[in-house]
Amino acid sequence: MGNSKQVPTHVAIIMDGNGRWAKAQGKERYEGHIEGVDSVREAIKAARRNGVRYLTLYAFSTENWGRPAEEVNALMELFCKSVIAETDELKAQGVRVVIIGRRDRFSERVCSHLEQIESATAEGKELTFVLAFDYSSRDEITTAVKSIARRVAAGELKVEDICEQTISQSLYTAAIPDPDFIIRTSGECRLSNFLLWQASYAEMYFPQVMWPDFKQNEFDKALEVYAGRERRYGKL
Ligand code: IPE
Ligand code: IPE
Ligand code: MG
Repeated sequence: MGNSKQVPTHVAIIMDGNGRWAKAQGKERYEGHIEGVDSVREAIKAARRNGVRYLTLYAFSTENWGRPAEEVNALMELFCKSVIAETDELKAQGVRVVIIGRRDRFSERVCSHLEQIESATAEGKELTFVLAFDYSSRDEITTAVKSIARRVAAGELKVEDICEQTISQSLYTAAIPDPDFIIRTSGECRLSNFLLWQASYAEMYFPQVMWPDFKQNEFDKALEVYAGRERRYGKL
């Protein structure tokens, strides 16, 4: 490899441990989410600095609606506040924001912030920042299967012509390359319904650190781990 370190094109992160971080500090769970926004800012900076082209962050799963309403509302509010506070800086940094997931369960207020940040940053060329928000992989695949079935029923697509690409192109991530590297903070070693199709050959890393403590140095450390991985894709 010489001195050219292998850098992942697409890093995807399951941001976990905000609640435990807060508890350990004697704070409310909500304060962990607030500190977590700072880690999001840091991850974007570290990704750009390292030449990562796509950064996906799992912010809210379809299952997270099952948390107490107070926490769900706080997370939605934090999303809106962050959009207002960060849009200019993201634009200045050349970051394009793309949001993946369902769009039919948010309040109008959340929807408008979502559309606003996507359109305001659409021209960003440095980094594509994908936010998975009301996202889960099984839900995404189910939606894709329905759209493929509709095309078949309408006579636009033959069953024999369905291939892996048909499926990839029917997911929310159609325009985004598969993740090379998936990180989950807080020491939990599971995917929790995140990018199941797209993760087929991703390298994985499960650091112990809680998301609010995952700052630029931790991001750099993770990329060192990735640089040492050998990817074989089933070959020799
Ligand atoms: C991750 O932190 C943020 C979201 C899932 C929204 P958690 O809120 O899951 O924190 P823990 O896992 O309870 O510590
Ligand atoms: C996964 O974290 C979802 C997000 C990070 C948005 P959870 O904390 O919701 O997952 P489980 O319940 O521990 O699997
Ligand atoms: Mg969690």
